[in-house]
Amino acid sequence: MSSPLIIDGRAIADKILGDCKARSAQLSAPRGRSPGLAVVLVGENPASRAYVRSKDKTCRELGFHSVKEELPEGTLQADLLALIARLNADARVDGILVQSPLPAPLDEGAVVRAIDPTKDVDGFHPLNVAKLALSDLSGFVPCTPLGCQRLLLEAGVEVAGAHVVVLGRSLIVGKSLALLLMQKGPGADATVTVAHSRSRDLRAITRSADVIVAAIGRANSLRADDVRDGAVVIDVGINRVDDPTDKRGYRLVGDVDFAGVAPKCRAITPVPGGVGPMTIAMLMANTLKSFAQRAV
Ligand code: GUN
Repeated sequence: MSSPLIIDGRAIADKILGDCKARSAQLSAPRGRSPGLAVVLVGENPASRAYVRSKDKTCRELGFHSVKEELPEGTLQADLLALIARLNADARVDGILVQSPLPAPLDEGAVVRAIDPTKDVDGFHPLNVAKLALSDLSGFVPCTPLGCQRLLLEAGVEVAGAHVVVLGRSLIVGKSLALLLMQKGPGADATVTVAHSRSRDLRAITRSADVIVAAIGRANSLRADDVRDGAVVIDVGINRVDDPTDKRGYRLVGDVDFAGVAPKCRAITPVPGGVGPMTIAMLMANTLKSFAQRAV
C-alpha cells in the first residue's frame, strides 16, 4: 500500500470557519446584530469545560455573540429549565447548546425538549431528530455527524453506493450519522451498517466496509486486523490516556489504533486534528443557519 492520506480536519474546519465568518458579516450588517450562541455548562467535568471554552473562543473569533452560562454541580432541574426559557426568549441568541453529559440527577432529555427547536443547534430535540429521519432540510443535524460527512466530501471520498460501517449507536454520533449517510443526495446514498457492542462477528462486519466510522468511546478499539486494505477510517473518539511525559499528565487518542490501522488505509483521520475541529465548525455553521432562518 502507498502511504495513506491523513485527512486534515483542522485545515478543512478553518476553511469552513472562514466561510462562516464572511457570510455572517454579510448577514449581520443589515440586521445590526451578529449570530448568537449560548453554551450552558453544568458542573466541573474537565473535558466538558475544555469543549465549552473552545466553543466560546471560536464564537468570538467569528465575531458571533457568545453567551457562556456556567452553573454549579447540584443545580436544580427547575433552575436549568428557567435558564433555557430565558435563552429561548432572548432575541440575541440563535443557538442554545447544553453541554452533555449533565451531572446526575438532571434529566437531559427533558432539558433538550425544553430548548426551542429553532435554536437547537445540537440537533438533539425530537423535532430535529424527526426532520433528519424525514430528510427535511429545515432542521438541525448534530454537529459531529455533519462534520464527518463534510470531511468525507472534502477529502474526495465517494460514499454513494459504498458500504459505510458506523461503530456506535448514540444519537450524538452513530444513529444520526447513519440517517445522514443513507439519505438520497450528495455526500450520501451510502449502504450503512450500524454496529455496536452487541453485534455478532464484528470483525467480519468491519472488514467488509469501504468506510469505517469509529464512535465507540474507547481507545484502541479498532485494530489493523479489523480493517481491510484500502479502507477509509474516520475516528470520532476523543479519549484521555495517562501520559506522564505530557505536561497535562494525559494525551488525547481516538478509538482507532492509528499506528496499526493507518498503513492499511486509503485515508484516515488523526486524533487530535481530525473530527474534533469539524464538530465546532459545524456548530458555528448551524448557528449561522439559525440566524439566517430567523425573521429579521
Ligand atoms: N458532548 C459531547 N459532544 C457533544 C455535542 O456535540 N453537544 C453537546 N451538547 N454535548 C456534547
